[in-house]
Amino acid sequence: MKKYERLEEMYASGSIPWDQIDPPPEVITQAALLTPGRALDLGCGFGRAAIYMARLGWQVDGVDFVAQAIQEAKVRAAQVGVSDRAHFFQSPVTELDFLQDPYDFVLDVGCAHSLSLDELQTYHRELLRLLKPGAMFLLFAHLLEETVEGEEQNWMNENDLLMIFSKGFHLEKVEHGITQVEDKDPWRSAWFWFRKDA
Ligand SMILES: C[S@@+](CC[C@H](N)C(=O)[O-])C[C@H]1O[C@@H](n2cnc3c(N)ncnc32)[C@H](O)[C@@H]1O
Repeated sequence: MKKYERLEEMYASGSIPWDQIDPPPEVITQAALLTPGRALDLGCGFGRAAIYMARLGWQVDGVDFVAQAIQEAKVRAAQVGVSDRAHFFQSPVTELDFLQDPYDFVLDVGCAHSLSLDELQTYHRELLRLLKPGAMFLLFAHLLEETVEGEEQNWMNENDLLMIFSKGFHLEKVEHGITQVEDKDPWRSAWFWFRKDA
């Protein structure tokens, strides 16, 4: 099954492991270190990070290709009174022509790791265009372990990521870890703090 259909089905099933009230602590900590400005949340899901940041005073754009995620993110932003600061768009993260630069902060919690190499290169070009010089790109990714036969999902090849983002960005920090969601097998993951070159 293709990744888009798989995600659409997941949303339709209502069983969404990342449907939590707060964003991950790494996002909360990073947001607290920055002065509110313009942020972009790629693969925003139900908008937990975008809404959290809008409540801190950020102007946030959230992008996700699943319509149900975007509809619900809009409803949730309205429920907490931040519709004027959190805007949501249904689109693949590789087609961001409709967004205007510059952003002060871009985050991606669990989206880019399912892009192909070509898509990751396009995504990188979009971030080069959209981020302000010196701005941060915070990424959480499921890292490649092995290709499971019959699985289309290969997760993030860390070497490819670092090679692609060596152009125009530098890696300020990386934290490797193991993530376990519900009763599923644990998997290798990492948080990456990239800074766009000044
Ligand atoms: C693991 S979920 C995390 C959602 C959200 N970032 C959060 O932390 O709650 C990844 C999200 O990325 C979206 N996504 C995956 N690939 C995408 C793509 N190529 N373009 C746009 N959205 C994508 C999925 O629909 C899903 O909502």
